[in-house]
Amino acid sequence: MYKNKLDTVKYYVKFFLIAINIPLILSLVGIATVIKVLLPKRKFKDITDKVVLITGGGNGLGREISLRLADKKCKLAIVDIDEKAAKETLSLVKSKGEHRTYRADVSDFAQCQSVVRKVEEEMGPVDILISNAGIMPCIDFVDISMDQVEKTVGVNLMSSLYFIKLVMDKMLERNSGHIVCTSSIGGQIPLPGGSVYTLTKFGLTGFLEAFRVELAYLNKSVKVTTLQPYFLKTNQEISNFIENKIDLMIPAFDVDYVASEAVKGILREDKVVTISNEFNIMIYLFKVLPPFIKDFVLYLGKVIKKEN
Ligand SMILES: NC(=O)c1ccc[n+]([C@@H]2O[C@H](COP(=O)([O-])OP(=O)(O)OC[C@H]3O[C@@H](n4cnc5c(N)ncnc54)[C@H](O)[C@@H]3O)[C@@H](O)[C@H]2O)c1
Repeated sequence: MYKNKLDTVKYYVKFFLIAINIPLILSLVGIATVIKVLLPKRKFKDITDKVVLITGGGNGLGREISLRLADKKCKLAIVDIDEKAAKETLSLVKSKGEHRTYRADVSDFAQCQSVVRKVEEEMGPVDILISNAGIMPCIDFVDISMDQVEKTVGVNLMSSLYFIKLVMDKMLERNSGHIVCTSSIGGQIPLPGGSVYTLTKFGLTGFLEAFRVELAYLNKSVKVTTLQPYFLKTNQEISNFIENKIDLMIPAFDVDYVASEAVKGILREDKVVTISNEFNIMIYLFKVLPPFIKDFVLYLGKVIKKEN
């Protein structure tokens, strides 16, 4: 079945790691679920007439989050480089209300600046920012071009900093507001085969952790939420990619489920939304591993197959 001895060894080590981890993960999931059930749930906040600016709202997760938030009667400003897709999202919104679309390449600060200015003029100051636009070039660092590196860092990381900087002052003045960014599980557990993607998501996750505490020191009630989904089938391209190019032990999630959980987390003002408890435990277990075991686990688990 296996081509060589190394593959056979890899198979047994993988099997062993799964065998010792499954009971551990199951007991921790059990404990976490009991704690979650016992803790009182925070109420959902009312977002009626609040201005929500969402980037990447034209497709995938951004579209699904937009549709669910629109149902809560907020005013949506959908920002996307793909204007047609943003308009399609708008056409799917059932609730009547003041919703608009804006075209911008979010990796360009000047375009972000002009969009925020227009939104403020036409809709009012931003109450909730959801920086969600992202790209996922899964290419080993030896193969990726510097243009692709810059684009990925621009869209996945810099755009969040641009938008936060642009809406933050007014939020601080009003002492209210909510900043939400879509990071990824790849911001906690590296993704070999997508090292630059990992760079952007680790950067974003770390930044938000530090930024939240900086706001706490200012004694401001501006909220910060990090969304960290696992692989999800958002569009045909990503679904094909997930099916053909990667080898996942845990199957990819459905976008409807992830969007619903993300919206619940946003409305509860959760600090971090990991979608599913198993991932919190996986992240925790991964973080405490010594580096050589981490490397080994990542080596065995490299999910992205290299293009030949
Ligand atoms: N799909 C997954 O498996 C997965 C897993 C974890 C995290 N995420 C994150 O979720 C977020 C949404 O991803 P998705 O799967 O819905 O992707 P998607 O490709 O379905 O949608 C992304 C949207 O962002 C827009 N966009 C891309 N570049 C842009 C730019 N320069 N300026 C403005 N808009 C731009 C696209 O037009 C598109 O509408 C991303 O931040 C992604 O990293 C996705």
